[in-house]
Amino acid sequence: MSSVEGAVRAARRAVVFTGAGISQESGIGTFRGPGGLWERFRPEEVATPEAFAARPELVARWYAERFAAMRAAVPNPGHRAIASWEALFPSLVVVTQNIDRLHQRAGSRDVLELHGTLWVSRCARCRREVATESLPPAEPPPARCDCGGMFRPGVVWFGEALPLDVFARAEAEVAAADLFVAVGTSATVWPAAGLIELAAASGALLVEVNRDETPMSRLAALTRRGAAGEELPRLGEEWGRWRSPS
Ligand code: APR
Repeated sequence: MSSVEGAVRAARRAVVFTGAGISQESGIGTFRGPGGLWERFRPEEVATPEAFAARPELVARWYAERFAAMRAAVPNPGHRAIASWEALFPSLVVVTQNIDRLHQRAGSRDVLELHGTLWVSRCARCRREVATESLPPAEPPPARCDCGGMFRPGVVWFGEALPLDVFARAEAEVAAADLFVAVGTSATVWPAAGLIELAAASGALLVEVNRDETPMSRLAALTRRGAAGEELPRLGEEWGRWRSPS
């Protein structure tokens, strides 16, 4: 039995850390690499508090388009495989950088959203949060709060801090994990990418599923180079066999 198999068989606490690559097969574009969002848009023009203060309409329209695509998207076999792993491991937590809620729609019950979500909007003045779907269409956007403030997407923009409680829980789960699976992330955006190093330093078995090599590939004990929607179901089958009582 390989050490990887032994570690998967013995694992009790698993963390799956995901990025944009897992939603790519659901039609949601990634940020970096060929055809990535940041090849076509400048983050400082659409994804910073300064951009929103300077051109709220442009930023609101950009996110409204992205939200429409996310509402129309459906989870793919990769999301569903991860949700099914809740039956394999006593504890399974999904720590995601994604804002599309496709994990929850695939059935994952314990999801930590490091970068917030587009399904929630927040007043930039009084910080009241509402379901984005409950906001009336506004022309020009963004919609206004009762306090007069503008609603902004409930996501973490560049230059903003991650939600402290969510990140603290993510760190605690990662530090206690026996198995850590990084899926579809370029592992280049911090502090989220630091969770991969924390997992390695805490002795978890590190698995990487990605089409391409990343700065964290060197830490992985097991690498699956391919599409998440194909590789994750395969991993699930193999791990299911390993963990099923013989
Ligand atoms: N299956 C597996 N991996 C994939 C797939 C796929 N179908 N498609 C793309 N990938 C990989 C790419 O090779 C790349 O390594 O997914 C990764 C996507 O990287 P990014 O686009 O950089 O996305 P992510 O790592 O999630 O970005 C982190 O940056 O822009 C900010 O806030 C945004 O949360 C985001 C953060």
